[in-house]
Parts: sequence; structure tokens; C-alpha cells
Amino acid sequence: MRATAIAHPNIALIKYWGKRDEDLILPVAGSLSMTLDTVATRTTVTLGGERDTFTLNGEAAQGGSASKVFRFLDRVRSLAGSHTPAAVVSHNDAPTAAGLASSASGFAALALAASTAYGLELTPRELSRLARRGSGSACRSTVDRFAVWHAGTDDETSYAEQIDAPDMRMIVCEINAGPKAVSSRDGMLLTRDTSPFYTEWAPSTERALERMIAACQAGDFTRIGELTELHAMRMHALTMTTEPPLRYLAPASFAAFDAIAKLRADGVEAYGTADAGPNVVAISRPADAERVAAALSEFGKTHIAAPGRGAYLAADGSGEAA
Ligand code: PMV
Repeated sequence: MRATAIAHPNIALIKYWGKRDEDLILPVAGSLSMTLDTVATRTTVTLGGERDTFTLNGEAAQGGSASKVFRFLDRVRSLAGSHTPAAVVSHNDAPTAAGLASSASGFAALALAASTAYGLELTPRELSRLARRGSGSACRSTVDRFAVWHAGTDDETSYAEQIDAPDMRMIVCEINAGPKAVSSRDGMLLTRDTSPFYTEWAPSTERALERMIAACQAGDFTRIGELTELHAMRMHALTMTTEPPLRYLAPASFAAFDAIAKLRADGVEAYGTADAGPNVVAISRPADAERVAAALSEFGKTHIAAPGRGAYLAADGSGEAA
């Protein structure tokens, strides 16, 4: 009747940008990510009451974010054959909607807490598919360490699963923690509808994913890094060809990419990526992470993340989110 789950954001090395099905949230191509061990969403779902409620970081949530959560609960209830309302209480360490994947940790935690509270016993694959319905990238935050999201062709075949990759660190640089101007969802639609390069995006992403999977399996950090930066640049180049142009990167983001290139020139292997916002995330080998963080600290607050756990239930089963 009550469950608490914890989930972390994930940052993609091969990005997801574009849906082939808006309702099922099926992506046009697969993607690959690392789940972080820092920053968490902690969500408690308690069944009962007269109607659904959603409290985020201590405040009653309204509008779009609340209705997304309530629609998600409807989906869980239809799987469980239940009509009981629920209270959702969530606490998020990361700034919401700032391009730091708060929707991924949010819906991964909600999928696990809600499915458990309603008595569903989902397999890892089913949990990943359920999280995907809240926010596409959330399906990857149910997976430990590194995840491949198979694009699939329908609800059953579109899910994330674990892939081995060499140990590495992500150095997250918060250049601007404010909410982004255009959501990923709207940005993807605009790209689909107006970019002349969109048709090439899906096949080129699938090719990049194949190369990335091979590099992960070979334990080739250099190749992983090169492909990561290449694919991030391609995604941002694509968004800049929409009408009107969608520019997520700020001047400081480019300066951070320059600093990462300078590190490489100085013999420190670091590579950059960025989601739909100005924040830059570098990857490096574990031993180089402090040096990379020091180099990026002039552009914003930085922290170092290691590969982390996919969504999990709070150990004591009580620990309600504050
Ligand atoms: O899951 P969404 O709708 O928040 O989209 C995430 C899109 C990117 O973060 C830009 C890329 C990715 O693969 O995470």
C-alpha cells in the first residue's frame, strides 16, 4: 500500500532525440547512457485518499507536471486493475527541468514506487518499459551503471538493459541551473517538423550506437569518448537547424568544450557532452576526474559522478520522501 523508491539521473553518451510514437514514447533510434551515483529523486507512493495528489520538494504540484504524474498513475492502475487514488510525495536533489535529467530520475523512481505500491511485480524489462511511458530517458534510469535503450518497434520491444563498459567518471558542470526555454518534448517535435536534416538523424544515430556498443564491449575508453562528443555535437547541430532555430548551448558551454579540448591537448583524456540545455558533462577515466573538475569549475558548479544504481526500493520500506 506504500512504497518508497530512489532513482538517479542518467546522462546519454548516444542521445535520444525524436519519437516515432508520441503516445507510446518510442524513439526514432536507440541510445546509450550512464546512470549517475549522485543526485537522487526519492519518491513515496501511498494508496488511499479521495483523489491523487503530488507533492514535489515540499510543495503541492499543479498544472502540467501534476497531470503527467496523474496520467502515469492511471497507467499503473490499469495494469493493476485498481481504482484507488494515491498520494505521491517526491524529493528531487537536482534542479527540475534544467537539462540535468530530473525527468529521468523522477519517472524511474515513480515507476518503481507506484508499481510496488499497487502490488505489481514487474520484471526489470517491464519496469523499464513502464518508466519509458513517463519520460523516454527514464527507462535508462531503471538500469545499473550503463544502459542501452533499444528503440524497438512497439511497446514490448522498446526498453533499456545493462551493457558493460569500462569504469569512468562524469564531471557535471552546471553552467545554468534555470529551467530550459524549450522542453525536450517540444524541441523534438519542432526538429521533426522543421529540420531538413531530421531524416538522416535516425539512421546516423543507429550507426553511432552500433559503434558505441562495440567500443564499450572492447573497453576502449578513447573511442567511447570520441563517439560521445561527436554525437552530442550532432544533436546540437541538428536542433540549430530547426525553424525557429533551437539553441540550447550558451557561450559558456562552448568555452567548456574548449577547456575539455585543451585538457586533451595536455594529455588528459576528457570528452564532452550536453543535453537539451547549456550544462556540460565531461567524461574521463576515474584517475583524471579531479583534474577535469578543476578545469571546468570556472564555468559553473561541478561535481563528479561514478556509475550508479538503477532505481531501487528504500531498504526499510518506510523512509517517506520529505
Ligand atoms: O526523456 P526526455 O523527454 O527528457 O528527453 C531526453 C533527451 C536528452 O536528454 C536531450 C537526450 C537523452 O538521451 O537523454
